[in-house]
Amino acid sequence: MCFAGLVVLSVVFAGCRGSEQLRFPAEFKFGAASAAYQVEGAWNVSDKGENIWDRFVHTQPHLIAGRGNGDVACDSYHLWRRDIQMCEELGLDIYRISISWSRLLPTGYPNVISEDGKNYYNNLIDGLLEKGIEPVVTIHHFDLPQSLQDLGGWANPLIADWYVDYAEVVFSLFGDRVTYWVTINEPFILCEATYTEFLVPYYDDPDVGRYLCNKNVLIAHAKAYRLYDERFRSKFNGKLSLSTLFFWFEPAAPEEQEMTDLMFEYWEGRYAHPVYSKEGGWPVKLEKFLDDKARKEGYSQPRLPPFTPEEIDLVRGTYDYFALNHYTTRLVRRLRPEEREVMWPLIGSTELGAIMVHHPSWVTVNDWFALYPEGLRKQLNWLNTTYDLKEIFITENGIPLGPELDDKLRVEYYRSYLEQILLAVHDGVPVTGYTAWTLMDNFEWRSGYTVQFGLYSVNFTDPLRTRTPRTSARYYANVTRTRMLYPQNDVKYRDVLK
Ligand SMILES: *[C@@H]1O[C@H](CO)[C@@H](O)[C@H](O)[C@H]1NC(C)=O
Ligand SMILES: *[C@@H]1O[C@H](CO)[C@@H](O)[C@H](O)[C@H]1NC(C)=O
Ligand SMILES: *[C@@H]1O[C@H](CO)[C@@H](O)[C@H](O)[C@H]1NC(C)=O
Ligand SMILES: *[C@@H]1O[C@H](CO)[C@@H](O)[C@H](O)[C@H]1NC(C)=O
Repeated sequence: MCFAGLVVLSVVFAGCRGSEQLRFPAEFKFGAASAAYQVEGAWNVSDKGENIWDRFVHTQPHLIAGRGNGDVACDSYHLWRRDIQMCEELGLDIYRISISWSRLLPTGYPNVISEDGKNYYNNLIDGLLEKGIEPVVTIHHFDLPQSLQDLGGWANPLIADWYVDYAEVVFSLFGDRVTYWVTINEPFILCEATYTEFLVPYYDDPDVGRYLCNKNVLIAHAKAYRLYDERFRSKFNGKLSLSTLFFWFEPAAPEEQEMTDLMFEYWEGRYAHPVYSKEGGWPVKLEKFLDDKARKEGYSQPRLPPFTPEEIDLVRGTYDYFALNHYTTRLVRRLRPEEREVMWPLIGSTELGAIMVHHPSWVTVNDWFALYPEGLRKQLNWLNTTYDLKEIFITENGIPLGPELDDKLRVEYYRSYLEQILLAVHDGVPVTGYTAWTLMDNFEWRSGYTVQFGLYSVNFTDPLRTRTPRTSARYYANVTRTRMLYPQNDVKYRDVLK
């Protein structure tokens, strides 16, 4: 029996093979994601320490769009019950949260564990579990304690031990109730954007800083993974990964294949190859390209700090699943001589001399974002064949739009991207879960409150930070309940959203 309303999927599946083909497997987990600094607010309550975003928004407010800051944000520190209620309204299986390092460890070190910080996360985790919603926990999401930044932050190799000390506290306090862990969110952005004057703390050190960060982040992740193995795995049996931001790349013209391969290694390979590949270490072509460049520029040290054989072994294989943050697809081409400009990382790479552009047929949202859902299916298949993965979990996927409540384009984005995920599942790629970015509008880093990614809109001028579901929330609530992808116009929403 074939539903008339399923025309789009029926075409994709070349005829009607029964509704089971159109359904997400029962064990597939639907969720939404957020991050501590972007939603919590309460930056100075109790004994919370200062983090790099607190410092930056207060000392350089002119560098944030609209001079926004996360002092209050969505006030989730106080409104966490409402957040859980929204997860319930959406019918989520999981909610991905992050822990604020400086809220839990005010000094940055484990000598002081904040009672209030601990209570906040215990309440949130227990509150979710009471409603049958599983918390997925990111240990670090861009908000380093200022005390550690003052000592060099992610460019200082000691960060690995500071991070492991913090992670140990997190595992000890919450590990009994958490299965899925993300150790560090988007190391590509953490290093790339921080040292090229885009993210906080806003350094201009593209030749050295970002590559020190690159290595240190991997060592930190790996040491935390090994610690979990030794002390916690037998008790809690959780799954760890670090989340990789990875756009899909295709060559803008056939002669751009080589540059596109390099772009893969630059974005994805620098963070994934050392962890997921059989041989470990840096991706070979890129390492050579960067070494040659550093030598030509008169540096005595290679760009990518070499791994010792022990470090290669330490890092290799430190994953239980692949956490993928996917937003869009880009076409890659070499920069033309007249285009020698400094580009932010989502536009291109000054280091590689490459720029990323849209295909003229794509629906575009801004200069770095286009809808090309097929890219996600290709990417999932690529990951599955490139690495030995038992499980892929999509930890972020979403679209930046304006404040409107009737966000039809977001509905189309979610429908079409979820369709490609379902097709990849049918291809045999082990995708097991999905957390939409994001549950509600929030403080979008240096874009402040000028960009909206939320399923729920938040009124940031209202002291109560009222949350209102968008059309996309209603659509997603239908998907999680039916586990089917009805075209948006066919969906009759149940009245579950407040
Ligand atoms: C906390 O910060 C707010 C600004 O966001 C300020 O108004 C308030 O006085 C501060 N509270 C304390 C206890 O410092
Ligand atoms: C995914 O990878 C596994 C293991 O390498 C392989 O057996 C399977 O055929 C792959 N699936 C697809 C769709 O390529
Ligand atoms: C946001 O809240 C403010 C203060 O309560 C209110 O005046 C305003 O109308 C609200 N905006 C919207 C779009 O609801
Ligand atoms: C989802 O949408 C379909 C198509 O309109 C409708 O038949 C179904 O009742 C909806 N289910 C829920 C739970 O909203």
